[in-house]
Amino acid sequence: MSSTSEHIRYDVADGVASVAIDRASKKNALTLEMYEGLVAAFERAAEDEAARVILLHGAEGVFTAGNDLLDFMQNPPTGEDSAVFRFLLALWSAEKPVVVAVDGPAVGIGTTLLFHADLIYASERARFHMPFINLGLVPEGGSSFLLPRLAGYAKANELLMFGEPFDAQAALSIGLVNEVLPVDALLPRARARARELAQRPAEALRASKRLIREGTREAVKATLQREGAVFIERLTSPEAMAAFQAFFQRK
Ligand code: COA
Repeated sequence: MSSTSEHIRYDVADGVASVAIDRASKKNALTLEMYEGLVAAFERAAEDEAARVILLHGAEGVFTAGNDLLDFMQNPPTGEDSAVFRFLLALWSAEKPVVVAVDGPAVGIGTTLLFHADLIYASERARFHMPFINLGLVPEGGSSFLLPRLAGYAKANELLMFGEPFDAQAALSIGLVNEVLPVDALLPRARARARELAQRPAEALRASKRLIREGTREAVKATLQREGAVFIERLTSPEAMAAFQAFFQRK
């Protein structure tokens, strides 16, 4: 097991590159440095001939609490060269299939990154949340385009305009995840499916992925850029500042 940053682990076995988010004490909240580590891990997997599939997972009981809110205040993204955007683009452009295992909270980008993954497994205690509105923010990660396509406008509006969390069964019912599993079965199942994928003909697999994504590819990229510009503006708004401060003063 090696690392691409202090809290991002990287490992390849049986054709599968495992990328683990490992900052459980802060619920795997993602800092700038962790996005850099994720980008590096995806780049490494892209170049690594031994890696045919990428498996992304969190720590036990937590996938990720989303962007580190302190970082949002201290090191906000400023444009497309910011680490969070480069991470979303790395995911958007990944040619190798991406499998994700979600255990516990998947907040903010923890949920929206799933729109760019190919197969998603959730534990029974997975909890999804796009709380942007309640933080004075707007949808990101392509969710303003991809969630209505997945779930219809009625459901997408409900999830994005109220910003309420939803459980694994709800995620299954809107087609966000492939399977819901008991906690102990989650990683073994996700890993087994990733290994199975890695045994499929690699070129055909990549060509299939490209075809499945091609129809929405440019629209998704344009959405990422559009959302990013508004999101950056919102980050310094009084509404967002008040919400971030309320989070850190809640205890
Ligand atoms: N940014 C920075 N720190 C975070 C964080 C985040 N997004 N999410 C959690 N943490 C920190 C907490 O401040 C706390 O740190 P402390 O122990 O030094 O006080 C630690 O992680 C544990 O979090 P806590 O809230 O006590 O855990 P919980 O199990 O009660 O709740 C969550 C877990 C994920 C539901 C909750 O932490 C949460 O809602 N986090 C914010 C999610 C968010 O708004 N993300 C941004 C989306 S754009």
